[in-house]
Amino acid sequence: MIIAGNFKANHTRASTAEYLSALDSLSDQKGEEDSIVIFPPFTALDNYTLKNIKIGAQNGYPAEKGSYTGEICLEALLEFDIDTILIGHSERRHILKESQDFIVRKYEFFKRNNFNIFYCVGEPIEVRQKGIESVMNYIDKQLENIDVSYQNLIIAYEPVWAIGTGLTASVEDIEEVHKAIRERVETPILYGGSVNASNAADILNSSFVDGVLVGGASLVAEDFYKIIKASANIS
Ligand code: PGA
Repeated sequence: MIIAGNFKANHTRASTAEYLSALDSLSDQKGEEDSIVIFPPFTALDNYTLKNIKIGAQNGYPAEKGSYTGEICLEALLEFDIDTILIGHSERRHILKESQDFIVRKYEFFKRNNFNIFYCVGEPIEVRQKGIESVMNYIDKQLENIDVSYQNLIIAYEPVWAIGTGLTASVEDIEEVHKAIRERVETPILYGGSVNASNAADILNSSFVDGVLVGGASLVAEDFYKIIKASANIS
């Protein structure tokens, strides 16, 4: 299982360091097959010495370096040995207005640089209300020109209406979409959207789910560890 935590624009450099040290010790007991990834804010990237946690970048501009005010490029990420990135998150698509074309450019760039790419897809509520066919048409557009045969690709299915809202998709809904995505990709498929310590076990027990991408419930190390334990069936 892949258990990933996306801090978004939360946590400072100091609180991230404290968090990582706490979570790393707790995670000595993680399941052997499980991998834990944390996406902290850029100001908290550093050369951490961690036994159990991998650090990823929440975003990256598709260039080695250059005149891209406010962005972060490859050279700055490599300084901290970052080789994992989130691309296509719904907040970047909807709030930051990233187009599919731009997202594809990012994908291609970071693929060329052998990054592990957590590629996010997911439909807004009005699409979900029209049923599974509309949902998959929407997701197919988000997969357009994305090389799904890339071996370091991890898909995160995150329905927009479930992100940060406390509304989680039912396990049946998640399985329906994951099964359909599975017909298109062979890589791991994570679920994201209001995953927390209470619903994680049910979601992770599904054979169609290869892990979770967690926002709000990843912010406190002890809470996030409960999700890691749910994955490994540790009581
Ligand atoms: P959430 O966020 O867990 O707070 O809903 C998930 C995400 O955006 O990855």
